[in-house]
Amino acid sequence: MFPAERPRRLRATPALRRLVAETSLEPRHLVLPMFVADGIAEPREIGSMPGVFQHTLDSLTRAATEAVAAGVGGLMLFGVPRPEDKDANGSGATDPDGILNRALRSLRGELGDDTVIMADTCLDEFTDHGHCGVLSADGRVDNDATLTRYVDMALVQAESGAHLLGPSGMMDGQIAAIREGLDDAGRQDTGILAYSAKYASAFYGPFREAVGSSLSGDRRTYQQDAANRRESLREVDLDLDEGADMVMVKPAMSYLDVLREVADMSTVPVAAYQISGEYSMITAAAQNGWIDRDAAVLESLLSIRRAGADIVLTYWAAEFAARL
Ligand code: PBG
Repeated sequence: MFPAERPRRLRATPALRRLVAETSLEPRHLVLPMFVADGIAEPREIGSMPGVFQHTLDSLTRAATEAVAAGVGGLMLFGVPRPEDKDANGSGATDPDGILNRALRSLRGELGDDTVIMADTCLDEFTDHGHCGVLSADGRVDNDATLTRYVDMALVQAESGAHLLGPSGMMDGQIAAIREGLDDAGRQDTGILAYSAKYASAFYGPFREAVGSSLSGDRRTYQQDAANRRESLREVDLDLDEGADMVMVKPAMSYLDVLREVADMSTVPVAAYQISGEYSMITAAAQNGWIDRDAAVLESLLSIRRAGADIVLTYWAAEFAARL
């Protein structure tokens, strides 16, 4: 008549639930993505990402210092050049005085090795067409010509003080090209966090505003199709062979199945990126009073950890690290 098995027993008190929790979330697991913009006098809030800012060099240092004090595991930097400095080749990406490289120098000077400083190694913030690479005459993203640009970008970022580079453009062979370029330049110690399984996603929407980029067309010829799972395992395999020090799945919440499989097969640490649209959805629903913001954020972060992420990139990193 009555159940012999009673799983509810272990859920009866907060102390019991805490004792048996399988997954933990610590400040060191969280990485804060940050935007630094050229030519602005004051930090500027991103309309579609309430609570997230385009920083000046000064406000970047202040916010980064606070995040480090809160215990975050690292910072991931994105540069936002002035619109007039964008061109077809994304020249600002390889200019040592481009905004991202200046920010890297400034942060590394300020923070040293106290935290892990990462840089987005991708051209879309710097190109006037908004694609992650350079275009060939017929308007396609030219894989191999883009690799040359990535290598140049990687070298300047390493020189500027990034500990880890995050190639996020999904060009074939990008990890091998960057690794070889770094090694040839004597930068054996600069690591690579490969955006290995990166999907063409509608959830990147708010990121366009965050970096002031308008994309002509879409990214479906280089980022993955949401229909595919095996393809991610192949991409991870290739990146491991090519020398990735860490691999990433992105976005996070719509791809937790992929994340679990990658975590099961990877021999290096696995990261997941809770991207702009994931942030904005929860924020907007909470602002409407439709969900409990803090509970929803914590649940989302825990679910990404449970699915296998060692490291979670999230715009909530500093705030939640401070509370954990
Ligand atoms: C490419 C890059 C993107 C993001 C991180 N690196 C945009 C894209 O690939 O379209 C997205 C991050 C986010 O949406 O929060 N530079």
